[in-house]
Parts: sequence; structure tokens; C-alpha cells
Amino acid sequence: MALQPAQHLPIGVFDSGVGGLTVVRALMERLPFESIIYFGDTARVPYGVKSVETICAFAAEITQFLLKQGVKLLIIACNTMAAVARHVVEDLSPVPVLDVIDAGARSAVNVTRARYVGVIGTPATINSNAYARAIHRYDPSVRIFSQACPLFVPLVEEGWLDHEVTRLTAQEYFKPVLCHPIDTMVLGCTHYPLLKPLLQDVVGPGVQLVDSAEAMAEQTAEVLDASGLSAKASAPPQYAFYVTDVPLRFQTIGERFLGRSLPTVHLVKW
Ligand code: DGL
Repeated sequence: MALQPAQHLPIGVFDSGVGGLTVVRALMERLPFESIIYFGDTARVPYGVKSVETICAFAAEITQFLLKQGVKLLIIACNTMAAVARHVVEDLSPVPVLDVIDAGARSAVNVTRARYVGVIGTPATINSNAYARAIHRYDPSVRIFSQACPLFVPLVEEGWLDHEVTRLTAQEYFKPVLCHPIDTMVLGCTHYPLLKPLLQDVVGPGVQLVDSAEAMAEQTAEVLDASGLSAKASAPPQYAFYVTDVPLRFQTIGERFLGRSLPTVHLVKW
């Protein structure tokens, strides 16, 4: 039987900056035959402290850019955009849209036994209550304790992944969450998976961390499979990376997120 052309199309993944490369990394590991086009709005990052209107306008521009490239699926790798602008992306997109919040929420509900779940993210993500809504869609009985952790993004970009300052910051942020009997904590931001070992230390062995990037890759595999859109092993995957600025230390930071060397990056001028 002839292959449907759509199977060969890339997956479009986007984020406010380089943080979404944690999702690309998880996708590359879980779906090694899929081609990926990544878009990171490095000129305008961070989004997590911006208004809903601004985030929605930026999300619309990125969606239009990726749709023009011809993608078979869109993945909102940025928790902040997923939290406040998913409807904007869906309204514009003729192809299916997946996002990290839904994937992380589903995974949290599967993991928790106590039904007490912590959620950490940027101020925009936490203020939107999007994780709580998504978790309650899967299980309304789960109790959720959310905490915005705005300092984590700059700390990760500084490379302070195992630094005393980061540890003290986490201890301070987690106080109002850890006083509840949670057994699960959702890492609701692209940057937080890089802090996993330190955060695990701070929350202790009784709390399981949910990495939205891994959950996203798992859900993508299921959706592609169910819709007959999975790429076949016949051709090597193509990866393309687009950004709106190439800031200082871009290569180092990008490679830290991607976990491998970053190939050629294209600069987009709107
Ligand atoms: N990508 C954002 C997120 O996952 C973090 C960086 C930002 O604030 O733009 O929420």
C-alpha cells in the first residue's frame, strides 16, 4: 500500500526560547524516525512574565510560521503558551495540536496514589490555573498545590543546575507545597527537567517528579500511531531549528537542553 504523504511531514515544535529543546530531546529519543522543525522565539523570551494578550499574539505568529513549513502535527512545548494560548493555536491549525500541559496532567494523574499533586511553573502558567483544569479533566478528586518559581528559568540558563543558590531557592519556593502530603510534583516548565536531580533531592524520595517533556513524547507516539501518521524507518529524519535571535552563549545553552550538539540554526526575521 502506498504511504500517505503526511507521514513524511515533520512535526512542528515551538517554544518561547531554547527551553523547548527538552521536548525535542525527548521526541528524538522516543520517536527516532520523526523529522522535527523547531521554532524558538529567542528574541522575545521569557514569556512566563508577560501578559496573556502578548503571549497569544506571539503564539499566533509562530503557529502561522510553522504551518507554512508544512507540518503534520503541532506541539506546544512551552508550558506558558500551552497555558494561555492553546485556543489561539487550535483556531489557526488544520493539523492536530498537542501540548505539554495536557501530557503532564495525564501523567500526574497516572502517577499519584495520594491524589495530592504539586505543580510548579512560571507565573503565567500558575496564574492561568491550566494545570489544575487539565488534571481535573482526568480526575476531579485530585488536590492540587501550585507554586510559581520565576527564578528557576534564569538559574537554569545560567547553568546553575547543581548550585547552592538553586537549592535554597527551591527549598524556599517549595515550603507552601511540601507542607501538604503530596506524592507527585509536575515540572510545569520547559527548563525544570534540567533541575531534576536537585529538585528530587529537595522534595525527597516520597515525591515523584513528572517530567512534561517525557510525557509529551509518549503522548505524541500514541497520537501518531492512532492516526496512522507515524514516519516509517525508510528515510533518515531531518531536523531544522529556527530562532528569532542568536543570543550570547546560545550554542552552549541550546546544547545543554538538547543533550547533543545543535546543528545549523536558522535566523528568522519576521
Ligand atoms: N518556555 C517557558 C515555559 O515552559 C519558560 C521560559 C519563558 O518564560 O518563556 O513556561
